[in-house]
Amino acid sequence: MADLSLRNVKKIYDNTVVAVQSFNLEIADKEFIVLVGPSGCGKSTTLRMVAGLEDITEGEIYIGGRKVNTVPPKDRDIAMVFQNYALYPHMTVYDNIAYGLKLRKFPKRVIDQKVREAAEILDISELLKRKPKALSGGQRQRVAIGRAIVREPQVFLMDEPLSNLDAKLRNQMRSEILKLRQKVNTTFIYVTHDQTEAMTLGDRIVIMKEGFVQQVGTPQEVFHHPANLFVAGFIGTPQMNIFDAQLVREGDRYFVELAGLRVEMSAEKTARLLAWDVASQPVKLGLRPEHLTLTDRDDAVFAAVDVSEMMGSAVHIHVSACGQDVVIVVPLSEEEETENMPMGQPVRFTFRGSAAHVFDVETGYNLEYPQKSEPEETAPPAVTVPENVPPADQTAEEVPAPEELPAPAEEAPVPAEQPEAPAPAEPAVIGDPFAEE
Ligand SMILES: Nc1ncnc2c1ncn2[C@@H]1O[C@H](COP(=O)(O)OP(=O)(O)OP(=O)(O)O)[C@@H](O)[C@H]1O
Ligand SMILES: [Mg+2]
Repeated sequence: MADLSLRNVKKIYDNTVVAVQSFNLEIADKEFIVLVGPSGCGKSTTLRMVAGLEDITEGEIYIGGRKVNTVPPKDRDIAMVFQNYALYPHMTVYDNIAYGLKLRKFPKRVIDQKVREAAEILDISELLKRKPKALSGGQRQRVAIGRAIVREPQVFLMDEPLSNLDAKLRNQMRSEILKLRQKVNTTFIYVTHDQTEAMTLGDRIVIMKEGFVQQVGTPQEVFHHPANLFVAGFIGTPQMNIFDAQLVREGDRYFVELAGLRVEMSAEKTARLLAWDVASQPVKLGLRPEHLTLTDRDDAVFAAVDVSEMMGSAVHIHVSACGQDVVIVVPLSEEEETENMPMGQPVRFTFRGSAAHVFDVETGYNLEYPQKSEPEETAPPAVTVPENVPPADQTAEEVPAPEELPAPAEEAPVPAEQPEAPAPAEPAVIGDPFAEE
């Protein structure tokens, strides 16, 4: 069990590629943190710096109060589940899980107990005698997690552990991970590019873009109080609608004006805007699809239906309004029949002042929280990625292919620096990136 502290952490690869910048985060003991963001934003790099698989260019990382910048991975008391986890095909599930402990020369009795406990937690006790090829994708994934569990690490790191699974299995494993979290009471850092996964798993979510942390907060906070336009667009499905609108201040009241519709900001939002003495100005207005309401009011925003999608519990109506595509989510009650709206049908929509998010046109900062958006006072330097730099997931050349990994019997010492998963090019693989740590 451990708390973590990342202080001003920066990573520059090869003196040129800025992968992570100004990363500051205090992680409480037993907290479940999710790093989320688009491809290349620095999630894996951050995780690998915590694991010790990547040098830290600047800043400090503390695990359980101990500075670990120069501590080798195997001495950090962490376990990591890689995106491209790999099992030894010639070993049973039992041996795959036990492998790392055998290397570490744990007594047989202890190994047996730990393996059976992990199998129990993951609900794979029945499968211990099978070989990986006789398992489903989800079962293999659990074996990979089992290998990490038996090490009883202080910190559990997971890099997109579900990305190899199909959508259904992913959903299932997501709830398995929630259960796992209850049973294995330790600190988790979990990487994903899937905002739904982030929202459902994280105690707190760290949203990253181009190496910079955009916002850290609970799922509720990042959804209801996005720090900037990027977070607003990234979190929530369907995506938030963004309009060009006008913020109008009249004394101590604020209004937003959109295509002739004028809506007063809620008291809560007004108080925050007043606190920053925000003036009347053109804004980017963010409105979530589920916060738009169809109405007959004369002053509402006019729109024309493009297409309506029946989603079961709701209809997603795609409309054209204010010269752009807009999505409106209309929830359906159980008696309601699907409203099949023909293309071109005119509709009108409105919204409430509590649902309006106003962002600075230039910076994209949420005008209610300008102070929270400070890390990017000047635009972040462009992340340079030279042509010849392979993405992180393909930089494992130095790692022996699975076949080259030492057979368990040899128990050969393997350099600490290399527990990387095999490259994605080898889907069916094999080899234990952990055991060698
Ligand atoms: N070994 C490396 N050498 C040079 N550049 C690298 C290396 N590893 C990663 N990068 C670059 O650093 C940036 C961050 O990469 P990282 O793998 O951390 O992103 P990520 O958020 O995990 O992306 P993904 O979702 O695609 O896995 C990218 O621009 C990437 O190309
Ligand atoms: Mg990654």
